[in-house]
Amino acid sequence: MTSGIQTQGGALEGIPIDVVIMAAGKGTRMKSRLPKVLHPLAGRTLLRHVLDTAQALQARQAVVITGHGAIEVEAACAMDSVATGQLAINFVRQEPQLGTGHAVQQAVPVLADDGVVVVLSGDVPLTQADTLFHLIKACAGKSLALLTLEMPDPSGYGRIVRSGAAAGGAVQAIVEHKDATAAQRDITEIYSGIMAVPAAQLKLWLARLDNQNAQSEFYLTDIVKFAVADGVRVVAHKIDDALQVAGVNSPVQLAQLERAYQLQQAHRWMEEGVRLADPARFDVRGDLLCARDVSIDVNCVFEGQVNLGEGVSIGANCVIANAVIEAGAVIHPFTHIDGEKLGVTVGSGALIGPFARLRPGARLGADVHIGNFVEVKNSTLARGAKANHLAYLGDAIVGERVNFGAGSITANYDGANKHRTEIEADVHVGSNCVLVAPVTIGAGGTVGGGSTITKSTPAGALSVARGKQVSIANWSRPQKLPKA
Ligand code: UD1
Ligand code: CA
Repeated sequence: MTSGIQTQGGALEGIPIDVVIMAAGKGTRMKSRLPKVLHPLAGRTLLRHVLDTAQALQARQAVVITGHGAIEVEAACAMDSVATGQLAINFVRQEPQLGTGHAVQQAVPVLADDGVVVVLSGDVPLTQADTLFHLIKACAGKSLALLTLEMPDPSGYGRIVRSGAAAGGAVQAIVEHKDATAAQRDITEIYSGIMAVPAAQLKLWLARLDNQNAQSEFYLTDIVKFAVADGVRVVAHKIDDALQVAGVNSPVQLAQLERAYQLQQAHRWMEEGVRLADPARFDVRGDLLCARDVSIDVNCVFEGQVNLGEGVSIGANCVIANAVIEAGAVIHPFTHIDGEKLGVTVGSGALIGPFARLRPGARLGADVHIGNFVEVKNSTLARGAKANHLAYLGDAIVGERVNFGAGSITANYDGANKHRTEIEADVHVGSNCVLVAPVTIGAGGTVGGGSTITKSTPAGALSVARGKQVSIANWSRPQKLPKA
């Protein structure tokens, strides 16, 4: 959901952008085996959010600085780079971790002198590309541009120290909380951790860093005083949306960002006309597309690529992943749809659920009905076909208007191989039937309830394959033996 930005050919007015992403920190407070930047937010890792933002900026490259969990982070990034497309990703190791300045020093060998470097953190996922675009414009290839904001409680952050008492005075330095005087701690303008800086200047300043401070760390923020000393303009680009610079340090913060992000998406969709029963109970972990007059009840989760056609209605408690739901279809409550790689299609006007399960390769035509406790996998159902109760259709081709009875299944798996079942148009399969694949049920045919069908059946025929019913008159049931 990044808005359009006007960079061209990976450059701002001809200046290439190199994004440096700090991701070497330990993330102790996550109390997890998983490196912090690999925790998911809205279905994407934190780092992937940042990489997607770099991609939206049309950066020339993203340099990811890894340390803790480097192997895992690099492997996950490499997978992501397939998804992020043309963005070039370079990894740089920082071992040990001696501060943010030391982190960026590690990137120097892979940074060309002609670019603008945008410094981001792998644990700050919700920065918008257009915010960074404005920051890069403020840098303009020659100034040091800092993203700042006012915080009612600035404690812990680096403070923006300006000349004179006035808030509008020129930026002099960033002073870290632990190094700040009492007066400096009263400053409410803080450094977000995000800057845009000309690469050539950055390299000179990084070479001058020391760790003579309260934390004995190499502070990236010390480059501000070098810029001031060198007469380079320092610009503070102040925003008021704290969510864009919020970092994740703990499960609580992760959940807070997740909810804030989901609420944003919910509001965006409601502004497009989607009717959500409760915007606080709506989760999109991927890309959702909605046409007009879509309504979604509470507690629905959308994953991967999901397209909802005009007038689609989704009942409460549905999980829908990688699926196309065509116009007017109704998905009743508690339905689980996951198309994975093959996808699922639900035709227009179809009625699905409650308690239905559609698996990869389910292709349902218009007006198909799939009822409770029915599972469909890798099967095509033509217009008007129905399986309303307790059934399984796997590897099947089902014709128009077929009625598939309660408790009936396709036995598609012989223990080694999968086979196809074809049920031609207008067939009526009774209850509790087993169609042993490969098998074809001829058009217009009827399969008697309780049949196990192992041979293909002719069109128009009634086929029954079950023990003949016998009745033995005056049957007396066994009696209990008298006690000895
Ligand atoms: C930093 C800024 C501070 C700012 C704050 C915003 C410095 C010195 N201070 O402080 O002014 O207000 O961010 O959140 O830059 N990292 C590494 N290697 C390291 C150290 C950190 O990769 O050696 C990574 C961390 O994993 C994290 C990011 O850099 O993603 C920021 O580090 P963090 O320790 O959170 O910085 P702060 O001390 O919070
Ligand atoms: Ca931090």
